[in-house]
Amino acid sequence: MKLEGKVAIITGSSRGIGYQIVKSFLENGAKVVICGSKEENALKAIDNLQKEMDLKEDYILPVGVDMKSTLSIQEMVDKVIKKWGHIDILVNNAGITSNVSLLDSTDEDFYNMFEVNVFGLLKTTREVVKYMKETGGVIINTSSMVGINGGRNQVSYAASKFAVNGITKSLAKELGMYNIRVNAVAPGVVETDMMRDSVSQDMKDMLIKMTPLHKIAECEDLVGAYLYLASDEAKFTTGTIIQVDGGLVM
Ligand SMILES: NC(=O)c1ccc[n+]([C@@H]2O[C@H](COP(=O)([O-])OP(=O)(O)OC[C@H]3O[C@@H](n4cnc5c(N)ncnc54)[C@H](OP(=O)(O)O)[C@@H]3O)[C@@H](O)[C@H]2O)c1
Repeated sequence: MKLEGKVAIITGSSRGIGYQIVKSFLENGAKVVICGSKEENALKAIDNLQKEMDLKEDYILPVGVDMKSTLSIQEMVDKVIKKWGHIDILVNNAGITSNVSLLDSTDEDFYNMFEVNVFGLLKTTREVVKYMKETGGVIINTSSMVGINGGRNQVSYAASKFAVNGITKSLAKELGMYNIRVNAVAPGVVETDMMRDSVSQDMKDMLIKMTPLHKIAECEDLVGAYLYLASDEAKFTTGTIIQVDGGLVM
């Protein structure tokens, strides 16, 4: 039980990578805030969890939070503080992607990407740190291999994930004085709705060939990195970006 007694918020956890992080954190004794863009999506995820594991009473709080709305983020943080009184772990995982060339991109495409992937993350972090600075804690941002290597027709997404890496390193420097560690996980290609919507079968086959560990990741392949960073095992680790991509980017 690596996270016994800890309270963790995981944004973008109604499905995909975030959902697996929720499962792993619950299995390790944490109390978890499960977030979808709408509360009904978080509730649906709890229904799914109930089929997969024994949920302890009062260990999970479903919340609908729109990363584009400051008010919605503030309300989410208020709910958590009201229920559990403190926040020990924040996983900024909610994200969107797009495969649009620069010349086909509209202003709205640029703003939309940054509103969710960058400004939503910054606002959530700011609202959480108001409380976390009193106790210390851990922040883990979900980056991407595209935030390290770039991606063709992914200029907005790449810009947002390079920003996430910059935020990670800057906040590691700024928040260390409060005993808050800030790190990121940079996945490669992971089997989720996001990947299915944006990567063709041909591209998938090519990526598998290029990956030394020779497969597309399942969400389960990612969670060890999040659990490590959230736990005291990583107590002297801050400002790092851990790539979990089967060796695709090196
Ligand atoms: N899949 C990959 O190959 C891959 C690779 C590298 C990095 N990543 C990163 O990993 C993270 C999770 O991706 P995923 O593949 O698990 O995605 P996913 O399956 O598409 O799930 C996205 C999650 O983010 C939430 N979300 C989306 N827009 C939101 C908004 N405006 N406000 C609040 N929540 C919002 C969704 O909530 P709803 O269910 O309510 O819509 C959902 O919980 C993202 O940051 C992504 O960039 C993914």
